Amino acid sequence: IKHIGVFTSGGDSPGMNAALHGVAKTAEMNNLRLSGFKKGYEGLIDGDLVQLDSSQLKKNVHRGGTLLKTARSKRFLTLEGRQRAMQILETNKVDALIAIGGDGTFKGLLAFSEICDLPFLGIPGTIDNDLAGTDFTLGFDSAVNTAIENIDKIRDTAESHNRIFLIEVMGRDCGYIAIHSGLGTGADAILIPESGHDFTQLLEKAGSYDREEAFVVIVSEGDELGVEPAAKKIKEINPEVDLRIAKLGHVQRGGNASAFDRMLGIRLGTAAVEALLHGRKNVMAGILNNQLSLTPFDQVVKEHQVNDELRSLLKIFGS
Ligand code: F6P
Repeated sequence: IKHIGVFTSGGDSPGMNAALHGVAKTAEMNNLRLSGFKKGYEGLIDGDLVQLDSSQLKKNVHRGGTLLKTARSKRFLTLEGRQRAMQILETNKVDALIAIGGDGTFKGLLAFSEICDLPFLGIPGTIDNDLAGTDFTLGFDSAVNTAIENIDKIRDTAESHNRIFLIEVMGRDCGYIAIHSGLGTGADAILIPESGHDFTQLLEKAGSYDREEAFVVIVSEGDELGVEPAAKKIKEINPEVDLRIAKLGHVQRGGNASAFDRMLGIRLGTAAVEALLHGRKNVMAGILNNQLSLTPFDQVVKEHQVNDELRSLLKIFGS
């Protein structure tokens, strides 16, 4: 391997820049050329690439977002798009590719590997923490910290008014952010897609709650019920309740990476280059039980949902 290409794809997440630095520094150590494709698979299709070196990246290890930009590419979903990307890689004499992204990115790599024989290496980058093959994805810890910081603030005002607050946090199909931020802020209830609970009782409790206290519910955006319908149900039970909805939204995706995510990015960026040099292909570098681990792409995209141990906490700390 002489020339590696790297790109970030899907939703950005804090720690992606640290991972890019890990890749760049390790590539340099091994005298490899490194090109960064911009805007994820879009840059691969359009041949939009820049030479990367660690001197610029090291100044951005802390920063959220991704210096390479990102996108959710519709064109790469087509065979034509993937064939075009293959041509670009050939023309530029790229002989290995590192992708940093989430579920959609890995599905893209799987499809690409059917027509392109180059070695691909993945790094898990998504705030949702919904990939198998790693205990934590890049950006999850930072997003939880941001959520917690904001929920703490909402609690101050909720307590002052004895209000019910329904707070929506991110997590398209899984409740990791909700369960971590909810338990970390002493929420009265946490609604996640994995719980499969009937929340009628909870909503009745919220509707008839003691007006001498606030009632804070963390709702994962992937939860079947959703904040607005939950609010409607509570209002039906008790039209008098003083209720507010807050959606934390994209604030959870931004901001400096936490110490954990910076370190995770450096470790996984380094591991990805080293794995390629050891002849590995079509695997994702992750951390399992604090050990580096390489998992085939088809295993990675299997659902990674909140585990039984965490789910059982919900029974103790909230619905
Ligand atoms: O996958 C990360 C994520 O932030 C999800 O939690 C959320 O559902 C989605 O991306 C939002 O995507 P977009 O920024 O494209 O609206």
